[in-house]
Amino acid sequence: MLNPVIALLLQVQVPGVAEHRVTDIFTPLASPAAAEKNIAMLTIAITTAIFVVVGGLILFTIFRFRRRPGDDLHQEPPQVYGSNQIEAAWTIIPLLIVFILIGVSARVIAAVQNASPPKSTLHVTVIGHQWWWEVYYPDYGVRTANEIHIPANIDGQTATYLTLQSADVIHSFWVPQLSGKMDLIPNRNNYLWIDPKDPGVYVGNCAEYCGTQHAKMLLRVIAQTPADFNKWAADQRKPQEENAQAAGAKAAFESLSCISCHAVRGTSAAGRFGPDLTHLMTRQTLAAGIMVNNGRSLRDWVNDPQYPKPGCFMPSMKLTNQELDQVVAYLQSLN
Ligand code: CUA
Repeated sequence: MLNPVIALLLQVQVPGVAEHRVTDIFTPLASPAAAEKNIAMLTIAITTAIFVVVGGLILFTIFRFRRRPGDDLHQEPPQVYGSNQIEAAWTIIPLLIVFILIGVSARVIAAVQNASPPKSTLHVTVIGHQWWWEVYYPDYGVRTANEIHIPANIDGQTATYLTLQSADVIHSFWVPQLSGKMDLIPNRNNYLWIDPKDPGVYVGNCAEYCGTQHAKMLLRVIAQTPADFNKWAADQRKPQEENAQAAGAKAAFESLSCISCHAVRGTSAAGRFGPDLTHLMTRQTLAAGIMVNNGRSLRDWVNDPQYPKPGCFMPSMKLTNQELDQVVAYLQSLN
């Protein structure tokens, strides 16, 4: 029954959305990622040169001093001791290389960390959970999950500053085309900023092993034009609209234990352990990016979350078909 959902796992592509889904650090699309790519290229260039020199010398030696007919097999090669020149060279050259790499890395890290926020800065708090991302907009009072809407840096004056926290174990925020990795550590704030120019979806994932479903802890950064972002934020701020047709479904939802873990703003559902479900249907994906968000996958997910995501903390509630219909009808009314 879940086969179509399984087929979608990790291959979620939302129709009509421009996605940057390749985890490619060599095609940076935001300033921190671009700065960090330059260090990567320098490091690759230096280490490639070392590889070519060392590999070349080894090949040369193997070829030049290969065994030939008539060699005296008991004669040792000349033994060289205490050459100051050779020892100085193999001490100083690696030291210089290491200091160049440290210096360049330190400079770029400092430049990225100390960059002053531009005029228009959005603040977002991202909290890692096993195995999903809580996303909070303190300036808007909006709480969502797994999909981080931000304004694109179209005017060159817009950036998003992320405060990274964890509710349980160490996770790592990584959207390769936007910036390097940054850990989310319990009882600590870490910071990261991103400023993609182009609107679109930037796909990332948790980059620190955090338990069985680490691999299914995907991230979507959705960069929008400022007008679209403002509209999104304004819509998210609104209290959840009551849909008269879904009133019965809502009562069913509120009577089940869903509400001890999930919140829907303005209802009796106020749980904080799982994702906030307010305006759920405005999200593109479900279960931390592993399936497209629609009625069918919602039903499969609620019926048994342990099938697509074994070990996750949402149990199968063993709902009857009728209860399942009502819960899904209510969730689908959360526009
Ligand atoms: Cu969270 Cu790996």
